Amino acid sequence: MSKVIAGLSVSVDGFITGKDPRPGHGLGDAGMLFDWYGDGDVPSQVFDGFRLSARSAELFDSLAARVGASLMGRKTYDDSEGFGGGGPHPTASVVVLSHRPAPMSSDRQTFVSSGIEDAVAAAKEAAGSKDVGLMGGELVTAAVEAGLVDEIVLHQIPVLLGSGRRFFNALPEHVRLRILEVVPAPGVTHLHYEVQR
Ligand SMILES: NC(=O)c1ccc[n+]([C@@H]2O[C@H](COP(=O)([O-])OP(=O)(O)OC[C@H]3O[C@@H](n4cnc5c(N)ncnc54)[C@H](OP(=O)(O)O)[C@@H]3O)[C@@H](O)[C@H]2O)c1
Repeated sequence: MSKVIAGLSVSVDGFITGKDPRPGHGLGDAGMLFDWYGDGDVPSQVFDGFRLSARSAELFDSLAARVGASLMGRKTYDDSEGFGGGGPHPTASVVVLSHRPAPMSSDRQTFVSSGIEDAVAAAKEAAGSKDVGLMGGELVTAAVEAGLVDEIVLHQIPVLLGSGRRFFNALPEHVRLRILEVVPAPGVTHLHYEVQR
């Protein structure tokens, strides 16, 4: 059974971008959130060009190899300039949740406008026997609220950003998590949780 996992790089104060993220401007002024993808000497077996520390590489590759579809919110898609018609993952299909029409069509990208349940169902179908990776704070929060997320990973960077887009927005009730794994690595602490239902 395909799982739904939300794994994002996040500051200690809970931001997944800095100030003013926008198309052509990546994570705003918080590019350091992605430094750990390239500041080691172990090449990723899944992502060409990524060189991570040994501890991060093992965890990153085991998660990345699980992903068959990336489900993202429209702001992630737009701020990443549509991933040039491709996706953030070298092989995974892309599903975008948006109220607005698709800006262009690509065989690899599907747009869903009928809500988070339909978007997760479409992403699971696209993932086949693999898992669905979520991207974008509003998207992740909507999926958690709908009870559709199985695992959460915080790749926590030791910085306080003070502002930006949040990993989690407001939720109507508490969501209990179980710690699966904590991996301290150079420049990042990986916190892997299972969502309790
Ligand atoms: N640090 C990291 O690892 C990481 C990873 C991924 C993304 N990011 C960054 O995070 C930022 C985006 O995050 P975000 O929280 O601002 O936005 P987001 O979750 O990417 O996108 C939010 C948008 O998705 C659509 N949406 C969300 N829930 C919906 C629903 N239930 N029904 C229909 N549409 C829905 C809406 O688009 P409409 O406008 O169509 O209504 C909404 O404005 C980007 O700058 C991206 O680069 C960082």
